[in-house]
Parts: sequence; structure tokens; C-alpha cells
Amino acid sequence: MHSFWYRANALLTFAVTILALMCAMASITDHLNVPQPQADVQVSNINWFRKQPNGNDEVSLTLTISADLQSTFTWNTKQVFVFLAAEYETPKNSLNQVSLWDGIIPSKDQAKFSIQTTNKYRFIDQGSNLRGKEFNLTLHWHVMPKTGRMFADKIVMPGFGLPQEYR
Ligand SMILES: *[C@@H]1O[C@H](CO)[C@@H](O)[C@H](O)[C@H]1NC(C)=O
Repeated sequence: MHSFWYRANALLTFAVTILALMCAMASITDHLNVPQPQADVQVSNINWFRKQPNGNDEVSLTLTISADLQSTFTWNTKQVFVFLAAEYETPKNSLNQVSLWDGIIPSKDQAKFSIQTTNKYRFIDQGSNLRGKEFNLTLHWHVMPKTGRMFADKIVMPGFGLPQEYR
């Protein structure tokens, strides 16, 4: 009898140890995954470009956004939040960041996409700094895990520019 409980206890200890080890390994493998997303964004059209009555510049763009974020998905990924921002410098601020578009990717097979869209959020400057302005388009993503810490990164696509004149 003594031997039976002794063995049962040993077996249980063993099982719990293995389970803990597997959890640790699963968590480590998730961190070992180094995502290598790809992104390509084009400004397909400048729909209009004007100064608002209050003096702030506003521009409307048509964007072609192609991205492959499939490598951000692991067994532990719940969803990925992605947003595209225009980033530029002005005399007042060293970094102006204007969110133009965002989306939630619920699964790996939807993480590779190509869309054409006008900017979902308005591209307005806090002033009249947009004429002839060079800007970067930056695709940011936040990986929301089922367990553990959130992970965020971005791809910077430099070299975009706005016209010298309103249109
Ligand atoms: C735009 O991208 C370039 C190259 O990555 C970088 O040097 C520059 O600081 C960026 N500009 C802004 C405003 O973030």
C-alpha cells in the first residue's frame, strides 16, 4: 500500500514537472520567433490638397498598402493590430505622427494583404507645413498574445513628398 501511494506521488510530481517544462519551452519558443514582416506602401494619388479656413493644411491620399505580417503569427497570437502613420518634421515638432489607416488582423491567413484605400483618418497638419513636405510612411504593428507580453515593431518607408502647391 505504502509503495502504491509512493509511486502515485512520484508519478504526479513527474507529470507536473513535465507540464511546467512544456509551458516554459512554449513561452521561450514564442520569444525565439523573430518576425520578418514585409511591407510596401505607395501613394497612388493625391486626391486634393488644401488649406482649411482655420489655416491648417489637409491632404487626401489614395494609398496602396501591401503587407505580409504572417510571420508575426505564432500559436500564441490572438490578433495583430496594424496602423499606417505619416511621420514628418516641422519647425515646432521634431516628430509629427498622423495615423492614416489601421486594422485588426484576426488570423494568419488574413495577415498577407494588398488593399487600395483613401486615408481612413484625416491627414491634417497643425499649421501650414505640408507644401513640399517630405514624409515617411511607417507601418506599425502590435502583436497581442493569448498569454504573455505584447510585442510591437514597425517598418519605416522613407522618401515620400507632397506637392509644392495646393490642388
Ligand atoms: C524618416 O526616415 C529616415 C530614414 O529611416 C529617418 O532618418 C528620419 O528620421 C525619418 N523621419 C522622421 C520624421 O521620422
